Amino acid sequence: MLLLHLSDVDEASWARAFREALAPYPVVRRGDDFDPAEVRYIFVWKPGPDAFDGLTGLKAVLSLGAGVDALLKHPKLPDAPIVRFVDEDLSQRMSDYVVAHVTMHHRQFTRFRADQKARRWSQYYPPAASETTVGIMGMGVLGQDAAKRLRPLGFDLRSWSRTPKAIEGVEGFAGPEQFDAFLAGTDILVNLLPLTPETAGILNAATFAKLRRDRLAGGPVIINAARGGHQKEADIAAALADGTLGAASLDVFETEPLPADSPLWDIENCYITPHIAAISSEASGVRYFTQVIRDSEAGRPLRNLVDIIRGY
Ligand code: NDP
Ligand code: OXD
Repeated sequence: MLLLHLSDVDEASWARAFREALAPYPVVRRGDDFDPAEVRYIFVWKPGPDAFDGLTGLKAVLSLGAGVDALLKHPKLPDAPIVRFVDEDLSQRMSDYVVAHVTMHHRQFTRFRADQKARRWSQYYPPAASETTVGIMGMGVLGQDAAKRLRPLGFDLRSWSRTPKAIEGVEGFAGPEQFDAFLAGTDILVNLLPLTPETAGILNAATFAKLRRDRLAGGPVIINAARGGHQKEADIAAALADGTLGAASLDVFETEPLPADSPLWDIENCYITPHIAAISSEASGVRYFTQVIRDSEAGRPLRNLVDIIRGY
């Protein structure tokens, strides 16, 4: 039996789609009449405090989110494997966001927009893409997809991950000891890390001060599409004000929704989106998790398991 426990999305619609895809396998929602001990899989997004109560026969927790930082903090998280969402469609959506913001900043959108508002004809030629280095923090599923799509556009690419990576066309840096060298050659910093105790607050004043300053007019840029817990928003506001950063694109925030009194809303060179960089779509989510359940029921191994100790 599959139990759905989803917040902030249309759970009824997901349940209908799962019932169709998995039939005759039983699919239930909270409030339905079922024995919790018969639940083998629970599909969650932002689970409430009682989400896992009575689920004594669980084979796996299925996470609608690719990021599992909040799930791992659940006080009653059961001792069952966690399968997270990894999907071509999600990766493509995230890369769409990354490519849009990288190219916007590379082509100095903030500067030319200000010139337009001031009716100022000021010719300035941005550096070629090949002279502009995009540094991707997190070279997992999403980081690698972003690199794959940025590469044909001609950008110079580098990455930073926990363990070394050898990816064609991407200069790899790994571990805390290579972090400063990675930053020193980066003009546009893209964050696609998972939120863990090691990565929390990594987008801070000290990090910004280490980015390369002499390439992009206006200063280096950060793009955060991972988690709000990665960023120190007071440091971002200060860095945008004093020119340490030329611009910032933020899809995620320390508090979501971003409070109406946040100073970030009013900063001209801060580009805010409401955690929409990449959605786990119903069609691809149902397809993926249906296969996960079918594999598991057939005795095949679970895919994309979260390492609970590592935190991602
Ligand atoms: P993966 O687990 O596939 O990749 C994580 C990458 O981060 C890996 O390369 C890993 O290194 C690296 N990493 C982890 N810890 C560290 C560390 N301490 N130092 C350096 N590198 C580290 O994750 P995904 O690519 O699938 O997703 C990344 C994040 O994107 C998610 O956790 C989620 O928070 C966010 N996200 C945001 C969305 C949005 O709409 N804004 C949508 C979907 C996801 P290694 O390879 O060595 O293990
Ligand atoms: C995710 C997200 O982690 O949407 O999938 O943030």
